[in-house]
Amino acid sequence: MPNLLILGGTTEANALARAVADLGVAATYSYAGRVDNPRPQPLPTRVGGFGGAEGLARHVRDTGVTHVIDATHPFAAQMSRNAIAACQQTQTPLAALTRAEWTAAPADRWQHVPDIAGAVAALAGPPRRVFLAVGRMHLEEFAAQPQHHYLLRLVDEPGPLPFADCDVVVSRGPFTVEEDTALMRRHRTELVVSKNAGGTGARAKLDAARALGIPVLMIDRPRLPRRVELTSVPRVLDWLAHSGVDLGV
Ligand SMILES: NC(=O)c1ccc[n+]([C@@H]2O[C@H](COP(=O)([O-])OP(=O)(O)OC[C@H]3O[C@@H](n4cnc5c(N)ncnc54)[C@H](OP(=O)(O)O)[C@@H]3O)[C@@H](O)[C@H]2O)c1
Repeated sequence: MPNLLILGGTTEANALARAVADLGVAATYSYAGRVDNPRPQPLPTRVGGFGGAEGLARHVRDTGVTHVIDATHPFAAQMSRNAIAACQQTQTPLAALTRAEWTAAPADRWQHVPDIAGAVAALAGPPRRVFLAVGRMHLEEFAAQPQHHYLLRLVDEPGPLPFADCDVVVSRGPFTVEEDTALMRRHRTELVVSKNAGGTGARAKLDAARALGIPVLMIDRPRLPRRVELTSVPRVLDWLAHSGVDLGV
């Protein structure tokens, strides 16, 4: 009997959960527990870390997981590394549901940086109005550049923030180009800082930046060890079928 574990927290994971639930395949959806009210899923859901690669391997063994699908965000590199290690250890088939990186069009004004630390360093210089669209986890690091005015967009109302001068918009997305263009106009944004997440849900700010001629500091993705990577839900279903899961179709 198949028993899938979907590592989630993304639009893509939600789409996979829907497809798997519709097919009646046994699966559990896993959230890290970062947001206050995670979206309900059409599958049994668990919340919270496993306790590193060892903990995940234990979870896989104890709950009889037969296949792991890592559908986490491209920047959730620790979880993805743990999944690779735990699946190797337990000989469990693993596939990642990924999305293509965003690439710059001719009218885009992107400066690439390799990681968060690179983005912080690139912010040295005179004060600017910065749309810091990197989520909640790494804000402390940007406190090293306190001269800027920061616009933050966060899923939940934040606690104390490390910036004296900032505006916060609480919103979950997905966002439209019209909304993001209006947001950046309203806040007189001069620079956008973005992770290269790929996908559609967070893309609008880049299209808005292009339309407004605003430069973007683009944080490249962390590199991961080799693994099976699939770029769509149908491809994951094909992979499951080839890995012995009866999808009943
Ligand atoms: N990073 C982003 O920019 C971003 C953006 C949108 C959504 N997300 C989602 O937010 C979650 C956390 O991302 P992150 O960047 O903080 O991850 P991370 O740095 O790679 O993970 C840190 C630890 O959080 C736990 N964890 C992460 N994802 C988990 C999951 N789906 N289920 C159970 N435990 C999980 C694991 O703890 P243990 O070691 O204890 O198992 C992991 O070692 C992920 O589900 C990701 O898809 C992240």
